[in-house]
Amino acid sequence: MKFNDRIAIVTGAGTGIGRAIAERLAGEGAAVVLADIADAEHVARGLREKGGRALAMRVDVADESSVRSMVEQTLERFGRIDVLVNNAAIAASIQLRPFEEIPVAEWRRMQDVNAMGPFLCIRAAAPHMRSRRYGRIVNITSGTAFKGAPFMLDYVASKGALMTMTRALARELGKDFITVNAVSPGYTLSEGNLANQDFLATYREVAIATRAVPRDGWPADIVGAVAFLASDDASFVSGQILAVDGGSVYH
Ligand SMILES: NC(=O)c1ccc[n+]([C@@H]2O[C@H](COP(=O)([O-])OP(=O)(O)OC[C@H]3O[C@@H](n4cnc5c(N)ncnc54)[C@H](O)[C@@H]3O)[C@@H](O)[C@H]2O)c1
Repeated sequence: MKFNDRIAIVTGAGTGIGRAIAERLAGEGAAVVLADIADAEHVARGLREKGGRALAMRVDVADESSVRSMVEQTLERFGRIDVLVNNAAIAASIQLRPFEEIPVAEWRRMQDVNAMGPFLCIRAAAPHMRSRRYGRIVNITSGTAFKGAPFMLDYVASKGALMTMTRALARELGKDFITVNAVSPGYTLSEGNLANQDFLATYREVAIATRAVPRDGWPADIVGAVAFLASDDASFVSGQILAVDGGSVYH
């Protein structure tokens, strides 16, 4: 039980990779706040039924006051924040299209959720983590930013921003013993991606063909790396981006 007595916030935990991360951390003893713009109560209930401590919260990570309230409520309820996993994103719903066709409003919302969202969450949690001189922050980026995947420029740009934020924030927060790392999944068959037929047809086989381990990737494949970076085993690891993609990207 690596996370006994640890308190973790996982954003975007209502489905897919975020849900799997929340389940893993709770399964190893953490009390988990499942923060999602959609309802995550069914996931939280499932965790409580298994004896875990879990609280679902409606949060828009792109909204400053919503994020502030997430941190305040977590501190009120659990007294601490040890781990923050920035997983929420506009992800499985993205539409593949040439960059010229991306409406400016959609570009802006993508950056607001995928890049500013983690900034707001980290900014809100950091004073508390600093005061305790402890924190584990794990950002979920994407192999598309390493590869320069075409036809999703707004998404790729947002994940590139999150990768570089990971490095710069590791330097800003390290002196208070807060680590900031990223996990970079390859194409992963989350529920959302399984429902996006266009995505499936374009990426599933192509992704497998690029891998040293040539098989599909599932949310369960991602959670071990996140749990490691969120744990005390990784106290001397910071500013790193760990690709979890069957050996597709080497950097
Ligand atoms: N699935 C993949 O192939 C893949 C590959 C690389 C990286 N990733 C990254 O992994 C993470 C999860 O991927 P997924 O496939 O499970 O995504 P998904 O789209 O299925 O789920 C994203 C979750 O984030 C929530 N969310 C969206 N906007 C939000 C907001 N403004 N505030 C709070 N919550 C919000 C959604 O409600 C949802 O529960 C994302 O960061 C994604 O970019 C996924």
